[in-house]
Amino acid sequence: MTTTHLGQIFHVAGQPTVTDASRALVWLPDGALVVDDAGDIIYCGPRDSRPRPAAPGAEAIHDHGSGFLIPGFVDTHLHFPQTYSTDAYGGGHLLNWLDSCVFPAEARLADPEFAARTARNFTARRIAAGTTAAMVFGSAFPHAQEALFTATERAGLRIVSGRGIQTAGPASAAPLMTTERAAIELADDEIRRWHGTDSDDPRSSLRHVAIVPRFGLSVTTTTLAALGELYDSTRDRGVYMHTHLSENIHEIDLVRESFGVDGYLDVFDGRFQRGSRTGGSSLLGRRTILAHAVHCNDDELSRMAETGSSIAHCPVSQLFLGSGTMPWRRTVAAGVTVAAGTDVGAGDEWLISRVLSDAYKVHLSEPGDAGVAMHPAEMLFTGTLAGARALDLEDRIGNFDVGKQADFLVIDAGRWAPLESILAHGVRADDETLARDQILFGLLMGLREPAIAEVHVQGRRVTAPPVPPPGCRI
Ligand code: GUN
Ligand code: ZN
Repeated sequence: MTTTHLGQIFHVAGQPTVTDASRALVWLPDGALVVDDAGDIIYCGPRDSRPRPAAPGAEAIHDHGSGFLIPGFVDTHLHFPQTYSTDAYGGGHLLNWLDSCVFPAEARLADPEFAARTARNFTARRIAAGTTAAMVFGSAFPHAQEALFTATERAGLRIVSGRGIQTAGPASAAPLMTTERAAIELADDEIRRWHGTDSDDPRSSLRHVAIVPRFGLSVTTTTLAALGELYDSTRDRGVYMHTHLSENIHEIDLVRESFGVDGYLDVFDGRFQRGSRTGGSSLLGRRTILAHAVHCNDDELSRMAETGSSIAHCPVSQLFLGSGTMPWRRTVAAGVTVAAGTDVGAGDEWLISRVLSDAYKVHLSEPGDAGVAMHPAEMLFTGTLAGARALDLEDRIGNFDVGKQADFLVIDAGRWAPLESILAHGVRADDETLARDQILFGLLMGLREPAIAEVHVQGRRVTAPPVPPPGCRI
């Protein structure tokens, strides 16, 4: 039995870099995506040329009319314990915001009932936003992580997550901190319980674990050395590493001062002793995602590229916290993979296309020659295939290449009038390629959650868990 989805298809095919994304853009106004019982893509192309099954009735057809089929969004950085912290007032820049808004909000997940409700709400928000795969910055509390992994598995979404590790910090962070020893034991335990344990077949596993030191200022050199050892012993099982890097100028000054290092990246590269001397193993690699990287120097960018580490680019959050703008051209030119992250709750949008929209605006506004108008294919790439690459899952997801697993969204513009009118009445060039790019740009810029009609992971429709009724106290 095969399942065929008919609609207007956009995806970035093959394995291009971001600068080649426009050449790899596929647009099929009368497209078909054919998926087998295992959830693998067996065809993506014009509907009339699709392979027909030998036996009649062996093809289930879902005709989405003028609906769009695009790969599921990949959010490479968002915070589960900040589900209710978007639009939190009273912080301003990063360190004040953490102190007055975020650490107290995250401490509320110490209550298991609150944590369980938060996990269901978080998962529902992800489904509404079409985020089929995500690197989720976790809670400090193991019971909250259990609730998160459970809600995610019930819904059928992909996840990489790990508890946020803090062994240093201000008084407001005290409820989130543990001893050095507990930090390592809890990370080790989380890996054993949750990493890839949802399936006997590693290729079909949807659940992975990351080692997540919060940021430079929340860990000691002892923690970093022990995490390096833990990572050495778990890397070959595909464990991830996730943290924040060089987001805010004041934060960077404090990191350099307190560790005595030349650059922020040294802290995660095993060179966290004074003078950037080696103190342990590097935490960088193909399964490492560093959020922000706004103020990196060229050496840091090259080192990320050399180690295969990726950047979660979070412009919505950078605007909210006044952190600055990651230089697009320079970062991409260094060869490091740049994927999109909402950074909920500093980011006040759950939808990756809103992140791509702000990326377009901030990079066009970069000064002088640095300013660039992103091509819509580069935007789609950054929110889908680059995310798959950053998660080291490019062999499975990110586009509609045959053999990949079918993670996709059905977008029905009729459910969101502003999008419907952009698509119906926007000016279209006579040139076919430009007209195609205009449609994709309008789709990405005008998309809002109500227009996401269906979310599929591994060919299966994802459903939202029951969420607390409106007006519920928590
Ligand atoms: N740096 C350390 N913690 C955080 C966080 O929760 N959000 C952001 N944006 N940056 C951080
Ligand atoms: Zn963050």
